[in-house]
Order: sequence, then structure tokens, then C-alpha cells
Amino acid sequence: MQPRIKVLFVCLGNICRSPLAEGVFRHQVQQAGLAHAFEIASAGTGAWHVGEPPDARMRQTAQAHGISLAGQRAQQVNPADLDRYDLVLAMDPTNQRDLQALAARPSSGQAVRLFRDFDPQPGDRAVPDPYYGGPEGFETVYRIVDRTCRALLQHLIDQHQLSVPG
Ligand code: 4NP
Repeated sequence: MQPRIKVLFVCLGNICRSPLAEGVFRHQVQQAGLAHAFEIASAGTGAWHVGEPPDARMRQTAQAHGISLAGQRAQQVNPADLDRYDLVLAMDPTNQRDLQALAARPSSGQAVRLFRDFDPQPGDRAVPDPYYGGPEGFETVYRIVDRTCRALLQHLIDQHQLSVPG
């Protein structure tokens, strides 16, 4: 059996954007019958919300689209994650910079990529932080995350030549 492909989604607080990306990507991977091929997690560059469930507004938006974020608890990214995961996906360029700064040696930063580099619709480089805004911000985050996770999954299926059942 091939080793699992390990994917870590990272934002600032790990209560809005990256928990949604974790939930959406896990859902898409399960729908594709590929749960056995992946290890999926999320973390924040900051520690303010460690131990908390995702923001209630993000959970509601996810639920409205059939995605559960149940059981998720915020954690802070640590330097070892940069070696452990095959892909560490930063939700915005500030998260990416903070992750690069965490890398102990240049080689350990190689897994770090900008999440929206996989976005099939060219636009901003950031998944906009919805934390201080209104409800529409959470829906915008969902739309970006949903289409980008689909493209990411297809990229990994192709790159690793995964066979999709059925
Ligand atoms: P996230 O959103 O990075 O998408 O989880 C935020 C959550 C909390 C804070 C900032 C952004 N905060 O400043 O507490």
C-alpha cells in the first residue's frame, strides 16, 4: 500500500478558514472513495483559540452545504509539521510567510504552498479572513474553498496516479 498523502491546511486562528478546508477536503476525498489514501488536518499559526471548536458561523455555513466540522478543535502549527506533512497549505500570504519563518532549515519549508495556487478561478492570493465581517464573508470563503479543494484533489489524484473506485 502507498503511504498516505498528508495534507495540512493552515490559517491564523484555526477556527474559520482552515477548519472549513479540512472538512470540505475530507468530504470530497470520502465522496471519491479515497479516504484510505489521505491524512487530513488543519492548524493555526496563532495560539489564541487552541482547544476551541470552529467558529459557530463557519460551522453553520458548512452545515448548510452538507459539511460537518464536528469534532474539530483548534491547534497551533509546530515546526515538526513542516517535515511531517507532504503539503502545508497556507490560506493567505501572511500565513505562508509565518510558516516559512517557522521552518528550521530551508528544506523543511518545501511543503509550504499557497492554497489558492490551486484555485481554478484566478483572483486574489488570499482566502479572505471572515472573522470580523458579516455572514456573506463566510459564504465567500465556502465558495473559494469548495472549488479549490476540488482542483487540489484532482491535482493529487493525477500526481500520485490514484485509482478512483467506481
Ligand atoms: P481564521 O480566522 O484564521 O480563518 O481561523 C481568524 C480567527 C480568529 C482570529 C483571526 C482570524 N483572531 O484574531 O482571533
